[in-house]
Amino acid sequence: MRPARLRSLSAAAVAVAALLATAAPAVQAAPARAAAAPDIPLANVKAHLTQLQSIATANGGNRAHGRTGYKASVDYVRAKLDAAGYTTTLQQFTSGGATGYNLIADWPGGDPNQVLMAGSHLDSVTSGAGINDNGSGSAAVLETALAVSRAQLAPDKHLRFAWWGAEELGLVGSKYYVNNLASTERAKLSGYLNFDMIGSPNAGYFVYDDDPVIEQTFKSYFAGLSVPTEIETEGDGRSDHAPFKSAGVPVGGLFTGASNTKSSAQAQKWGGTAGQAFDRCYHSSCDTTTNINDTALDRNSDAVAHAVWTLSAGTVTPPTGTVFSNATDVAVPDNGAAVTSSVAVTGRTGNAPATLKAAVDIKHTYRGDLVVDLLAPDGTAYRLKNSSSSDSADNVIATYTVNASAETANGTWKLQVRDVAAQDTGYIDSWQLTF
Ligand code: TRP
Ligand code: ZN
Ligand code: CA
Repeated sequence: MRPARLRSLSAAAVAVAALLATAAPAVQAAPARAAAAPDIPLANVKAHLTQLQSIATANGGNRAHGRTGYKASVDYVRAKLDAAGYTTTLQQFTSGGATGYNLIADWPGGDPNQVLMAGSHLDSVTSGAGINDNGSGSAAVLETALAVSRAQLAPDKHLRFAWWGAEELGLVGSKYYVNNLASTERAKLSGYLNFDMIGSPNAGYFVYDDDPVIEQTFKSYFAGLSVPTEIETEGDGRSDHAPFKSAGVPVGGLFTGASNTKSSAQAQKWGGTAGQAFDRCYHSSCDTTTNINDTALDRNSDAVAHAVWTLSAGTVTPPTGTVFSNATDVAVPDNGAAVTSSVAVTGRTGNAPATLKAAVDIKHTYRGDLVVDLLAPDGTAYRLKNSSSSDSADNVIATYTVNASAETANGTWKLQVRDVAAQDTGYIDSWQLTF
């Protein structure tokens, strides 16, 4: 559930509406716009958690790989998806001498060459029921998939949901899936969204720092709720997005924290208890249905649906604030040829903003030597800084605002730097474009 919010029409939308009212012929239809994502009912997500808890209780207290509670969890999720019209597939693998299962659910339709995936691991550790880790992600992804069915969503992209086995043994199921995907199929994946632990009792709101558009899609969602977020730092590569990322698939995800301790600054902005773990029951027997923060689970479940709805559009406009960056150093030869550093913007629609922000960090012993340009994908140069023999300070560390509204957003943007005077030298340290 989220509070109802007033929506204001942008100036452009008002102008278009006025134009349609006065001048448009009756046959001209308004452009189709995807409906906003629905609110995901917390009660439904929690009902799935209650079922997963019952499954653990009836199967020796856990839902771990190779144990009966795991397969029962798969059967529960699969039955819901089959009844909702999904095409489900069980992928079997072997790990530690036991059979494991990945559950894959395809929503019929959408462009088969552009596939958006969302997934979560469904196995627990052997020591407990794994309700936060990772019933929470599994239930939110399941309820989002069911919401897709209720809405009979017809997204531009093909949607695929996944529940991974044997994550707790080292991302075994998701690695198996990625390794057994033909490279042609892998290339069709436009993104993978991962949800592992999203209802921690002493919750933080962490967003994976990966694909810039996926990351900003989540950040914008939470900004709309006035909930501050931080970048996830409790172990990049510790969940099922890692194999996708290694295979070159754009990834992102959400996390509310595991065994790390909440700082007092974090408790101030998020509530909860400073000096205590985000999840004191992480990987232990008390990870039961009482080990869930309802507010965090509710907000994150809605964020899952928001991302699935938004990112399954054929081309995705970078949400305001999306940062594309390059932090690989590039040496600038003394009094020499221009060098460039590239930033790729892909899969987007329309033009760049009139207030495109180019933040540059160039280390140099005499900044007056440097001429700096931003090159649009078509090669158009925007001068950011001229040389000046009297500007003797170090470094160019500055943010420039560029009217790039005449340029297509998509493509390779370059920062071009030329050193036009002898003796002092330096390098491009990093730079970024904020859309
Ligand atoms: N299942 C993960 C694990 O046991 C939990 C985890 C730790 C995690 N750090 C993370 C999940 C960071 C996502 C991101 O290791
Ligand atoms: Zn986990
Ligand atoms: Ca020089």
